[in-house]
Amino acid sequence: MKSSLRKKLLTKRKYIENRLEAERSIVEQVTKTFSFKNDDIIAGYLQIKSEASIAPLFTALHHQKHACCMPIVIEKNTPLSFRLWSPQDNNKTGHYNIPEPPTENEAVTPNILFVPLVGFDRQGNRLGYGGGFYDRTLKMLRQKKDILAIGVGFSSQEVDKLPINKHDEQLDFIATEKEVIKCV
Ligand SMILES: Nc1ncnc2c1ncn2[C@@H]1O[C@H](COP(=O)(O)OP(=O)(O)OP(=O)(O)O)[C@@H](O)[C@H]1O
Ligand SMILES: [Mg+2]
Repeated sequence: MKSSLRKKLLTKRKYIENRLEAERSIVEQVTKTFSFKNDDIIAGYLQIKSEASIAPLFTALHHQKHACCMPIVIEKNTPLSFRLWSPQDNNKTGHYNIPEPPTENEAVTPNILFVPLVGFDRQGNRLGYGGGFYDRTLKMLRQKKDILAIGVGFSSQEVDKLPINKHDEQLDFIATEKEVIKCV
C-alpha cells in the first residue's frame, strides 16, 4: 500500500509546476513562522531527486550564526548521523549518492530537523523513500531531547490519510508553499 502511493507521489513531485517559485515560498513560510534560539542545532538536507530545495534557508540560517548540520547515512537500518555544515563546504557524496558535509566537520546532535517528504497528511504522518531512516532517527533523538521535526514539501504531496505503521514517527509541522501546518 505504501509503495504504490510512494510511486504515485514521487511522480507528482517530479512534475511540480513553478518549482522555483514554490521553493521560494516554502522558505518564506518557514522564515515568517519560526524563530530559532541561539543554542538550537538545526538539521537540513542537501536536496536530491525532486525534493524541495531549502538551500537558501540554510544559507540564511548560517549567516544568522545558527549551527546548521546535514544528515549522513551510516548504513541501512541505522539512524542518520549529522555533521555541521556551512555554505562554503565542499560537500562529498555519501551512501545512495546523497551529498553530505566533509568528514572533518564536527558531528552534532540536532534538536530542530527539516525533513524531506514524499507524502504527508495533516496529522503529521510522513511518507519517505522507504528506508525508515528518519523514523529511526527521530525515535532516537526524541529519547534524548526535545525535538522539533518540520516536514518540507509541496502542497500537492498532501493526502487525506497516509497508511501508517507502528514504527512511523510523526512530524510536528509541515511547511509547504501555501502554509505551515501545525500537526496535532
Ligand atoms: N524504529 C524502527 N525500528 C525497526 N524498524 C524500523 C524502525 N523504523 C522503521 N523501521 C523499518 O524501516 C522500514 C521502512 O519504513 P517506512 O516504509 O516507514 O519508510 P519511510 O518512512 O518511507 O522512510 P524514511 O524514513 O527513510 O524516509 C520498515 O520496514 C520498518 O519496519
Ligand atoms: Mg516511515
